[in-house]
Amino acid sequence: MQTHAQKQTGHGTSLYVHVPFCVVKCGYCDFNSYVVEDRTIHDVFLDALAAELRREWRHGAPVSVFIGGGTPSLLDPVRFARLFEVITQSVSLRECREVTMEANPESLTREKVDIALSYGVNRMSMGVQSFHAHHLQFLDRAHSAERAEQAFASLRAGGCVNASIDLMFGIPGETMEEWSADLERALTLQPDHLSCYNLTFEPGTRLHRDFERGQVAPNDEEMDRAMFLHTRARLAEAGFEAYEVSNFAGRGGPCLHNDHYWQQGDYIGVGPGASSHWRGVRWTNIKPVEAWAKASLAKLPCASTAETLRPLQRASEAIWLGLRRSHGIDLAAIGERLAVAVDPVFGAILKRHHTAGWIEFDGRFVRLTPAGLLLADRVSGDYLGASLAS
Ligand SMILES: C[S@@+](CC[C@H](N)C(=O)[O-])C[C@H]1O[C@@H](n2cnc3c(N)ncnc32)[C@H](O)[C@@H]1O
Ligand code: SF4
Repeated sequence: MQTHAQKQTGHGTSLYVHVPFCVVKCGYCDFNSYVVEDRTIHDVFLDALAAELRREWRHGAPVSVFIGGGTPSLLDPVRFARLFEVITQSVSLRECREVTMEANPESLTREKVDIALSYGVNRMSMGVQSFHAHHLQFLDRAHSAERAEQAFASLRAGGCVNASIDLMFGIPGETMEEWSADLERALTLQPDHLSCYNLTFEPGTRLHRDFERGQVAPNDEEMDRAMFLHTRARLAEAGFEAYEVSNFAGRGGPCLHNDHYWQQGDYIGVGPGASSHWRGVRWTNIKPVEAWAKASLAKLPCASTAETLRPLQRASEAIWLGLRRSHGIDLAAIGERLAVAVDPVFGAILKRHHTAGWIEFDGRFVRLTPAGLLLADRVSGDYLGASLAS
């Protein structure tokens, strides 16, 4: 039997729709999202999104659709329904195998669940992060643990059969007991998929500024590792497959959209700050909502940067992204697909990582060992560095 991770995707084009509004800006978050009181900007956003989608989506039925943010569930019910009208004018969601929407506990209601499912959303991903009030407060989350549980229940009551939960560990001061209790409380909700991220201090965030001022320090690395290992062991016991460093497939299987991305599949991103990658060309949209909307409504390009990736860059990104998947990477296939001689550039690094015990090779696939998994960012990052250097 094939495991989730062995099911290959990577063909066709996926669509990402970015909704850039949030109730609060969480202290750790560097995503392109804004707290805006005047909700008329939501109408401008929807008009501009319709225009951009009409111009940019020329790819037939998408492999997958991901409506993320920001906070898509923040839109009021009328505008929320219009978001789906706008998308379905250009894209047939019914033909799409996976349509995911991100939802936040503070704004998700049963009415919005019904609207989303009626337009073809078949997977919901809810950011819970923690079930501890003091950690939620530290992270600036706009909801309580109880509210998260109620919102998750509304997903089920509306008939959502593929619901995922995002959690974070390594919050400053967090103990193993607290993290373990968070995992158990999430499991009690019987999610179909779990994402468990180790908190990172991203430049430009409130958390990073506090760190620079000496007001907060990251947790001990050993503790982070222990939490990571506990997560893998506990979720394996609960029947979840770790198909990527931070992602665990339960009954709902893996997130096809993210798996397509990790396999360097083509995707088109629409909305402020959204990135696209199509046949070796990468571009990123203008970030501020008004400036992006102005360009879109004037039928001007929404991209602020674009680059054609060299085959070597693409190969290094394929290794960097693919090594995070438990299935690993087929180096020969990457070399063939991108017409790159992999050995001369990456051979020395592969050898070093193999000697260190961080990667293993089964004759076809290179994958991280348990020791390598603990250093996943650093190990995979070395391959990105190699293409920059050459
Ligand atoms: C696009 S974000 C947020 C989606 C949604 N608005 C929310 O707040 O749940 C998706 C996930 O990335 C994770 N994330 C964002 N910033 C992070 C950071 N600095 N460290 C670790 N995980 C992070 C969070 O778990 C979050 O749920
Ligand atoms: S984590 Fe989610 S809710 Fe918080 S600022 Fe980022 S996108 Fe918005």
